[in-house]
Amino acid sequence: MNFTPAIDISKNEEFYTNLFKLVDSYIISEPDWLAQLTNSLALLNEMLPQVNWIGVYLLKDKDLVLGPFQGKMACNRIPLEKGVCGKSATELKTMNIDNVGKIENYISCHKETFSELVIPIFYPNKKQELEHLIGVLDIDSPVFARFTEIDQKGLEKIAQLLGDKINWPEPSILRK
Ligand code: SME
Repeated sequence: MNFTPAIDISKNEEFYTNLFKLVDSYIISEPDWLAQLTNSLALLNEMLPQVNWIGVYLLKDKDLVLGPFQGKMACNRIPLEKGVCGKSATELKTMNIDNVGKIENYISCHKETFSELVIPIFYPNKKQELEHLIGVLDIDSPVFARFTEIDQKGLEKIAQLLGDKINWPEPSILRK
C-alpha cells in the first residue's frame, strides 16, 4: 500500500495556465503530428509530479491502440468495452479514478499505479462524438486520489489543446 499524499505543486490554477502555454509553444514549434504529440507527453511527464505513466491510446476500429507514451511498457490494445480507457472513450467523458483497485473493469498494466485520469481527445471544431474521437489521454499515478478537480480541469484543457493544435492525420489514415 502507498499512502504518500499528493503534493501541492499542481493543485493551483496558475500551474495549469503556465503548463498549457508551455505545451502550446512546443506544439507550434513543429509541424509533424507524431513529434508534436510525443514531445507534449514528455513535457507533461516532466512537469507533473507523482505520475508514473502518461500516454495516449488512439482509436482504431473497435480498439484503442497504444500511441506515444512515457513510462514502462503497457498494454498494446484495449477493446472499447474494456478498462477505464474504454469507458472514457465510449462514454466520451473523463474518468477520474481515486483508487483503481475498486474498479471492476480496470486493466492493470502496472502494479505501482493507484489512481488514474483518462480524458478523451477530439478532432478540432467537431462535436464531441465517437466518430470525432482521436483517442484518450491516460495519466497514471503511484498515489491514491492524485487528481483533484483542479488537476482534472487543467488537464482537460490540455487534452483539448492536443486535439485542437496537433496536426492529426485524418481519421481514415489515423484509424487504419
Ligand atoms: N489502466 C488502463 C489501461 C492502460 S494502462 O493504465 C497504461 C485501463 O483500465 O483502461
